[in-house]
Order: sequence, then structure tokens, then C-alpha cells
Amino acid sequence: MAQGTLADTQPIDASKVDTQAEIKYAPKKGELATPNPDLKIDSVNEKFAEKYPRQYDSWKSTNKSTAADSAIEQDPRMIVLWGGYAFAKDYNKPRGHYYAITDVRNILRTGAPTDANTGPQPMACWTCKGPDVPRLIAEWGEEGYFTGKWAKAGAEVVNSIGCADCHDTGSKDFADGKPALRIARPHVLRALEAIDKPFEQSDRTDQRAAVCANCHVEYYFDKTNANNVVFPWYKGVDVDSMEKYYDEIGFKDWEHSLSKAPMLKTQHPDFETWSMGTHGKNGVTCIDCHMPKVQGEDGKVYTNHQIGNPFDAFESTCAKCHDQSKQTLKQTVANHKKDIKEVMIKLEDQLVSAHFEAKAAWDAGATQDEMKDALQAIRHAQWRWDYSAASHGGHMHAPDVMLKVIASGLDRAADARRELAIILSRHEVKQPIDYPDISSAEKAWKVMGIDIEKERQAKDEFIKTIVPEWNKEAKAKGLLINDEPPVK
Ligand code: HEC
Ligand code: HEC
Ligand code: HEC
Ligand code: HEC
Repeated sequence: MAQGTLADTQPIDASKVDTQAEIKYAPKKGELATPNPDLKIDSVNEKFAEKYPRQYDSWKSTNKSTAADSAIEQDPRMIVLWGGYAFAKDYNKPRGHYYAITDVRNILRTGAPTDANTGPQPMACWTCKGPDVPRLIAEWGEEGYFTGKWAKAGAEVVNSIGCADCHDTGSKDFADGKPALRIARPHVLRALEAIDKPFEQSDRTDQRAAVCANCHVEYYFDKTNANNVVFPWYKGVDVDSMEKYYDEIGFKDWEHSLSKAPMLKTQHPDFETWSMGTHGKNGVTCIDCHMPKVQGEDGKVYTNHQIGNPFDAFESTCAKCHDQSKQTLKQTVANHKKDIKEVMIKLEDQLVSAHFEAKAAWDAGATQDEMKDALQAIRHAQWRWDYSAASHGGHMHAPDVMLKVIASGLDRAADARRELAIILSRHEVKQPIDYPDISSAEKAWKVMGIDIEKERQAKDEFIKTIVPEWNKEAKAKGLLINDEPPVK
């Protein structure tokens, strides 16, 4: 081991997590953070360019990761799996941090609001996009921030993921060139306490991983409160514990348009899966691989802020600890990816069939009572599929965990389809039923009743008319001083 950060670290200890704690910790009405005028957050990234040129330039070069591939066009099954939910319209693979504002504006899921009070999404959709978010929470309080439609903050959240998301930029330490890592989002501080990793008391290793846990985590919007973001970690961070939490509080993200199952949308539990993998358990953090220390031309060592694929900086990442060649390790990771993808697709196929079979059962007159167990099994199976699919880099961070999660999902999908087969026979439906052709995204959108052209036209209009107004207003307020978020 070439690096000295491993010895003093503790993996998340599930036995320490208070299993009765969800009532105690998930904030109730009136328990959200109030405005905090003492917390000064400078969200304008360009202001740090002059004093910290190496960190700034490497941070800005996240703009080199430009590919925005559509995941659902590559795999139209997802359009069926998310039937009745905005993800069925548009879902891209992630790209560089520099594009977070651009992409949340452009994604069809945020629709085409015409003013501050229209559009399909709530304020919470800005929450992992940049340092204007902790700034607004400090100014408006959590309730003030989370209440209202997404378009409310169009002229406020304009700086992409940056310095003040991870650093206490107003501190003396930061002025002295030290990291001064900080978490400024109250819901993240609460979640870290729930897993017995309170940020202030954590060592440097844990704090380094925690800054990524601002955003690379599973979360939900608490509709019983102010639609605020909550991480469902009160029973643990593994797939079973979070499912149990959601079942107990009776939460669903949406009802599926075909099967009527009460669905969960897993977000991106990257931090959670990493913590259960070999590297997480050994105290090798996101920073060791995604933000290595490097030497500048002037000989000074600094943190490379171009967060991207660690293989691109192999000598300062993997090679610090491993003797194998780049090619060998790359091949190992590629093999894990292939194996996981293969079983993941099998689970998707099972789930697609189950949604259509459930629809056929409803159409044949099945009752809520008959369908209950099958729908719960669909919910659990898809939660497990999505936990693995949305864990970006899961094949690298915890390949064994991914395989186990998918296997348990296949098991629950089998439960669902066994129940459905019995219900369909009881209602004298000929089996196998007719499954529609969803072999392309265009076909799948048609089957699911989505008019994609209409969505795209409305979005184009929004980008042409509303977005320039947002930029203009943000400039007038001094929030945008140099570059506007790119249009594409
Ligand atoms: C996603 C989180 C994140 C963002 C965004 C971020 N940093 Fe950092 N920064 C880190 C981490 C992690 C370290 C290393 C901490 C450690 O060594 O323990 C670091 C280290 C630093 C340091 C200490 C010296 C060094 O290079 O190690 C400075 C100064 C710094 N960053 C400036 C900036 C500036 C300026 C920006 C905005 C342009 C920025 N950072 C954006 C996470 C971030
Ligand atoms: C404020 C929220 C936030 C923080 C903090 C954050 N990320 Fe991200 N990250 C995102 C979002 C959002 C995207 C997707 C951006 C897009 O596609 O527009 C992303 C994308 C990425 C990607 C894909 C990059 C690419 O080029 O494909 C990696 C890798 C990543 N983040 C790692 C990290 C690591 C490691 C940390 C901690 C040092 C971190 N992130 C901190 C929100 C965040
Ligand atoms: C041991 C090294 C290592 C650690 C630790 C690590 N990662 Fe990664 N991560 C990688 C590699 C390598 C890839 C790319 C895998 C590939 O090429 O298929 C990756 C991929 C990703 C991606 C997907 C990027 C994309 O474009 O799809 C995200 C997001 C990410 N990591 C975030 C994190 C976060 C957040 C943490 C900490 C909680 C973390 N990683 C810890 C090595 C690491
Ligand atoms: C800071 C040190 C460190 C860095 C950096 C690091 N690793 Fe590791 N890696 C470890 C340790 C420790 C283990 C566990 C060894 C054991 O249990 O014997 C490990 C285990 C592994 C394993 C086997 C376990 C598994 O999850 O399949 C693979 C593969 C691996 N690392 C790949 C990588 C790759 C690829 C990178 C760079 C992207 C990387 N590592 C970066 C320390 C590191």
C-alpha cells in the first residue's frame, strides 16, 4: 500500500445503526432547518480561479467529458419499466460535473415551464446541481427552498457543481490553501448522523468520501413534509434495509401505468454500494481514485479536480496500490461489467413481462386483493434492478454486491410472475399473453402512450425563450459573472 490513509478508517458498521430510528431522524414538519445568515456560501466558481489556478483549471476540465448518451434509447425496456413516470421520457448516462445545470435544464423530465409556477417537477430537482443550492437553503431555510415548482429557482441555481459544494470557501484554512472540506446541505448532515458518521467528528478519510455523498446517493422527496430530500438510511444502506424503510413508511415514488404497482425509483446509490465493496471496506475512498494528488509543472503537488474515469490517470490512481498493469485491471473491470449487465438484462426482461401480465390481469377483472402480493413482488424486484442499474460504476465499486442484488431481484420477479400466472388462469386468460413489440425506443414510447415529439418541441421552446431570461436575471444579480451554462 503506497498511501497512508488506510489504517485509521472504519467502514460503516450496520450494527450501530439504530433500527428504530426512522421516526427519530427523518425530520417531521417544523423540524427543517431555518434560514442561517451566518453560513456564507460563495457559489460563483470563477471567483476562485485566480487564487487556486490548478484546482480551478482541473475542475473546469470536467467539461471535456461531453458524451450525453441516452440510456433508454439504447435499452427501450426501461421505457416500460418506468411507465407512468418521467424517467420513461428521457434518461441519460452521466457526464462531466460542468454540465449539471445544462443537463437538468435540457432533460425532458423537467418539462417546459412557462413561468415560476408551472412545470412537472418540484424544487428538490435542483438539489444536486451546484453550490447555489446550499446558498439558497442558508438564505431561505429548507422549507423556503424546497417549497414550490422547479422553475422558481431557474434564475438562482446557475453555477454547476463547484468549490462551495465541497469546501468551506470562507474559512481561514481554505484561504491558507488547505481543503477545509464542508457539507453545507442540512439533509446530508442528518443522513450522515443516521449512519453514525457525523461529518464534524469524522476523520479525513470519511470526510473525503462524504463530500461525494452530498449527491451520489439514494434519496426520496418527503411529500408528507415540504417535499424535502431525505436519504432512506435509517435502517442501513444496503438494498434490503432501504426497502424495509420504504415499506414501513408506506412510500412510493409513483404508481406504474400498466401494472398499478406502487413503485420505487432508485436514484444513484454510488456511495452506499462503494461502502460495501472491497475498496470502501478498506478505506480507499472516491478521492483516491477520482481525485488523485498530482504534481504540476512547477513541481507543486495538488488535488486533480477533473473528476472522471480513474483509468485515464492510472499512474496516480490504481497504480499507487496495485502492481497489475493498466490493461489487466481494465480487463478485470470490463469483465465484471459484462457479467453484471448480462444478468441485469435478464431481470429487466422478467420485469417487463410482469408489468404486461399484471395489466392483462387487471383487464380480465382481477381485484386489488388478488393482485396485492404480485404487485408488492414487482415493487421489490424493480427496486432491486434499479439499485444495480442506477449505481453508476457499481461493477467497479462492488461487483459482488451488484450480483447479489440482481439475484434477489430475479427471485422476487419469479414470485410476481408465479402469482400472476395463477391469477391469469383463474380469469381464463390465454397464456402466454400477447406482449407488445418494444424493440426500439420509438415503439416503446408508442406502446406506453408517450408523444415524444410533443415533449421535445415544448422543451425546444423553453430553451429558446425561458432559459435566456434566467441567465439574464442571474447575470444582473451577479450570480453569473463569466460563462453561461452551455446550451447543449
Ligand atoms: C466534489 C467536491 C469538490 C469540488 C467540487 C471542489 N473540490 Fe477542492 N478538493 C476536494 C477534495 C476531496 C480535496 C482533497 C482533500 C484532501 O486531500 O483530503 C480538495 C482539495 C482542494 C484544495 C487543497 C489543496 C489541494 O489541491 O489538495 C483546494 C485549495 C481546493 N480543493 C480548491 C478547490 C476549488 C477552487 C474548487 C472550485 C473550482 C474546488 N476545490 C472544487 C473536493 C472538491
Ligand atoms: C453537488 C452534487 C455532486 C457532488 C458533490 C458530486 N457529484 Fe459527481 N455528479 C453529480 C451529477 C449531477 C453528475 C451528472 C452530471 C451530468 O451528467 O450532467 C455527476 C457525475 C459524476 C461522474 C461522471 C463523470 C463523467 O465524466 O462521466 C463521476 C465519476 C462523479 N460524478 C464522481 C463524483 C465524485 C468522486 C464526487 C466526490 C469527490 C462527486 N462526484 C461529487 C453530482 C455531484
Ligand atoms: C478503487 C477506485 C474507485 C473508488 C474508491 C471509487 N471509484 Fe468510482 N469508479 C472507478 C472506476 C475505475 C470507474 C469506471 C469504471 C469503468 O471504466 O467501467 C468508476 C465509475 C464511477 C462512476 C460512473 C461514471 C460514469 O460515467 O458512468 C461514478 C458516478 C463514480 N465512479 C462515483 C464514485 C463515488 C461517488 C465514489 C465514492 C463513494 C467512488 N466512485 C469510488 C473507481 C473508483
Ligand atoms: C489506496 C489504495 C488503492 C487504490 C488507489 C486502488 N485500490 Fe484496488 N484494492 C485496494 C485494496 C486494499 C484491495 C483489497 C485487497 C485485499 O483484500 O486483499 C483492493 C482490491 C481490488 C480488486 C479486487 C477486489 C474487487 O473488488 O474485485 C480490484 C479488481 C481492484 N482493487 C481494482 C482497482 C482499480 C481498477 C483501481 C483504480 C481505478 C484500484 N483498485 C485502486 C487498494 C486500492
